[in-house]
Amino acid sequence: MGNAENAEEMHRLFDKTAKIYDQSGVEFFGPIGRRLVEFSELSAGHSVLDIGCGRGAALFPAAEAVGADGEVIGIDISEEMVKYAAEGAQERELGQVDVSVMSGQAPDFPVGRFDAVIGSCSLFIWTNGPDDVRPYRELLRPGGRFATAAPSFFSTLRGKWALFPEIVNELLMPYMLQSLKQSGAYDSQFANAGSNWLATPESIEKTLTGAGFVDVVVQEEELPVVVESGQQWVDFTYTTGMRGMWERIEEKERQEVMGEVSRRLDSLKDENGVITTPVPIVYVRAQAPKV
Ligand SMILES: C[S@@+](CC[C@H](N)C(=O)[O-])C[C@H]1O[C@@H](n2cnc3c(N)ncnc32)[C@H](O)[C@@H]1O
Repeated sequence: MGNAENAEEMHRLFDKTAKIYDQSGVEFFGPIGRRLVEFSELSAGHSVLDIGCGRGAALFPAAEAVGADGEVIGIDISEEMVKYAAEGAQERELGQVDVSVMSGQAPDFPVGRFDAVIGSCSLFIWTNGPDDVRPYRELLRPGGRFATAAPSFFSTLRGKWALFPEIVNELLMPYMLQSLKQSGAYDSQFANAGSNWLATPESIEKTLTGAGFVDVVVQEEELPVVVESGQQWVDFTYTTGMRGMWERIEEKERQEVMGEVSRRLDSLKDENGVITTPVPIVYVRAQAPKV
């Protein structure tokens, strides 16, 4: 499957998911977006581009960080995501936010336009190497900041999918791999983790310096994802990009797998009646050279 088809697959998946995306009550994209903004070290008055902004998990914290004198432009391939992000900005009275439909693979802005380019749980979907990352450096002024966050791929090399709790990893991995192969959407990025530029801190550093960035910082942190039941975890995954995996499983088998996942996770309830599953998230930042 080629790049254009992958983008179309993503477009359809996220358009369809937008209404319930990140609305399950489980804290996931919000804390990652807030942490990414903190990690990006944005300053008041900065001009920021948020690529693959979704419903605004990083967009809104970035707008708070740059203040009313700054600006944050969000772009996303999904019209539906952009619609919800625009509504969210209006509700929060963030006049410094502007969102539009645009591909993150071909951002159409003048060279040197931004102080910072960020992307939370988005860029990793379509970036494969220096050539895909270089356009973001070109959008930055000299010394500008690039920062991104993603579920960590470091564990994928050990056969552990970052988002799957250990207790269901082996059960779900074959379905994830089957889905990746069928969609082709995540081809080299996910199904072939060893050649993924996010596979190790060293490959990240090499890719970013290859794209002309300097001062690369890579940090893996665990995000504790807390759910009240196994069923809530299943429902949560359905409101994210993992919906693609579920939808590729035939209905009867899907119900059985969901039931088994839910039962296994319920066995992890602590004395407060909640289940905590740590998800490794990788935060990456780098700078455009000063001259
Ligand atoms: C997992 S969501 C993350 C959204 C948001 N940044 C957040 O943290 O909640 C990935 C987002 O990337 C967008 N996306 C996928 N492929 C894209 C592309 N080629 N260009 C721009 N956006 C894209 C999707 O529509 C979706 O909103």
